Amino acid sequence: MASAETERGAPFSLDSYYVSEELGFVLPDPLENLPPYYQPWMEIALRVPELVHSHDLRSHVNKMPLLSTDFLQSHRELRLAHLVLGMVTMGYVWQEGENDTVEMLPRNLAVPYWEVSLRLGLPSILTHADAALANWRKKDPEGPFDMDNLEVLVRLPGGDSVKGFFLVTLLVELAGVSAIRSIPAVINGVRCSDSEAVTKALENIGQSIQDMNDALKLMHVYVDPSVFYGVMRIFLSGWKDNPCMPKGLVYEGVQTEPVKFSGGSAAQSSLLHCFDELLGVKHEEKSRAFLTRMRNYMPPAHRKLIEDISLQPSLRGFVQQQANQGLSKAFDDCVSKLLALRSYHINVVSRFITVPAAKARQLRKNSHESEGEMVSRAPASLEERGTGGSGIMTFLKTVRDKTKDVLLHEASK
Ligand code: HEM
Repeated sequence: MASAETERGAPFSLDSYYVSEELGFVLPDPLENLPPYYQPWMEIALRVPELVHSHDLRSHVNKMPLLSTDFLQSHRELRLAHLVLGMVTMGYVWQEGENDTVEMLPRNLAVPYWEVSLRLGLPSILTHADAALANWRKKDPEGPFDMDNLEVLVRLPGGDSVKGFFLVTLLVELAGVSAIRSIPAVINGVRCSDSEAVTKALENIGQSIQDMNDALKLMHVYVDPSVFYGVMRIFLSGWKDNPCMPKGLVYEGVQTEPVKFSGGSAAQSSLLHCFDELLGVKHEEKSRAFLTRMRNYMPPAHRKLIEDISLQPSLRGFVQQQANQGLSKAFDDCVSKLLALRSYHINVVSRFITVPAAKARQLRKNSHESEGEMVSRAPASLEERGTGGSGIMTFLKTVRDKTKDVLLHEASK
């Protein structure tokens, strides 16, 4: 629809992309409960950490009734159902760690999960759109969006670190809202050659990316790296490119062939995909393939926004053509902020994955020392891979370097 409007020359706007004025890609006011008929799902979902700990989650799920999805009506009901069934699925698959995974998800979970996923246009696995965008409530509804006033709706094992991980990710998303809201001003400014409007919008976007970077710093305050690495990370992993589940997962009652889905990752956040398309960042083939695949894990309206941004006239080309110092500076500043965010993110990944992975390897070598150490409980197969399935550091560094390539001035590089 937006692209048809574009052809007719109407201004670019965010109206048709399910982007909230206040919250961007974050789901406004997620429901906290499903209609009473779905209590069997809610009861298990709210007890995932405890049932995984006692090794009882699978037996509870096996006894769950097969419920119809016909009574789920609103978008918010479907989003909560997808979140709840996703958490239960991750707990079910990974209850016994990497060594005793399952080949099949039972039909009483698989069938409704598949139906809900089809209606939302999301895959049947826990995504960023579930765990970060639709998994929050304010304790005081009139209070601010900050860590003290926020709570998650459903958790995976990992205690306060899980809560911290999902909520800090939410705060990063919220810090990016102002950038998303400035995108139409950039596009419309380029269309009518209004350098001043584009400069101002790029300055806003740069500031907002800087705010995302500041929010990301909270990860170090609220998440313990050894809990992240040793306890919770496996529950975010998927069944694609994962040596523990080479065949994928059969969704019983849906189809007989196994299906492969990547695990949850903020690579599924629409924010950086929008920035890359706007600024003209061209990723190298392998990273591009991974990032493009991650778009299938986003709500379809957000995926469509990214595609429509990619169809607009080149912003970078416009900036070069205008040869306006202020505009060029705003463009390069904006790219530099994105670069800084990616560099900082690499630091975070190093602290939360690379360092604990090295420690786990060391402990395994001296096997008698490893007992009781949290990091050594982590799956060895995930040492080199992201939960989304990428070969982490090479991927992240290539993505960062390609961002650098769009800077206009050599000096900035
Ligand atoms: C403890 C915190 C975090 C860790 C350990 C982490 C780890 C990773 C890993 C391993 C990847 C590689 C892709 C994969 O296979 O999953 C990745 C990608 C990515 N992550 Fe994170 N991440 C964290 C937090 C965040 C947050 C809060 C955001 C912001 C929304 C974010 C945004 C991204 C993006 C956009 C990518 C894709 C690469 C890029 O475009 O630069 N990450 N992350």
